[in-house]
Amino acid sequence: MSYLDDLNQKHDDTHLKTLSLYAKENSVPIITDEGRRFLSQMIRLNQVKRVLEIGTAIGYSAIAMAKNDPSIQIVTIERDPSMQKKAKASFKEAGLNHQITLIEADALEYDENALKGPFDLLFIDAAKAQSEGFFEKYAPLVKKGGLVITDNLLFHGLLEADAPRSGNRNTRQLIKKIDHFNHWVLNRPGYDTQIYSIGDGMSLSIKRID
Ligand SMILES: C[S@@+](CC[C@H](N)C(=O)[O-])C[C@H]1O[C@@H](n2cnc3c(N)ncnc32)[C@H](O)[C@@H]1O
Repeated sequence: MSYLDDLNQKHDDTHLKTLSLYAKENSVPIITDEGRRFLSQMIRLNQVKRVLEIGTAIGYSAIAMAKNDPSIQIVTIERDPSMQKKAKASFKEAGLNHQITLIEADALEYDENALKGPFDLLFIDAAKAQSEGFFEKYAPLVKKGGLVITDNLLFHGLLEADAPRSGNRNTRQLIKKIDHFNHWVLNRPGYDTQIYSIGDGMSLSIKRID
């Protein structure tokens, strides 16, 4: 572990540490520590109050975001029943049921008009081959000046260097799709986007349009 990881982790929330351990033991992919801190800083700097998250898993990132401020409201969508079950238990245990609403659905099939926008932040962290679909469908619910953040754009470092030639066919196809998304999101009209090598690679898009 690096000096900075070690230093930052000493100040991490205990409840989040426990959930992170659960994720590790059960091979649940969750946001990296660095990514989580970046999200939290963005939330505070931009006075984000309403968040829409695609991809809840066990509720780790939703809890981390909610903990920034008791007035933050999070709506988070998850399609996997076992994840939904664990997320519900996590929200209850964290005493955050009043701040977090879990939608048990496939985000690509869910009627986005049923959600009450606008949101200050859209956090996309679900099926990595479908980030473009999530962006197209849910970014219209983000307010002008709001943020869209997408995670895992380096896909565990595989997007860098010679990695596209590595791995099996499925991995190579996924890498191609993520690479396509990275170019697509950087050129998306109406948004000012940068991709950062924070955590597993995160894009930050600031919405310029209504
Ligand atoms: C990387 S994990 C989310 C991690 C979580 N955001 C965190 O950092 O704690 C991705 C999750 O997205 C869910 N997912 C994938 N595609 C989805 C979809 N179309 N609709 C809803 N959930 C989806 C998966 O079941 C998985 O639990």
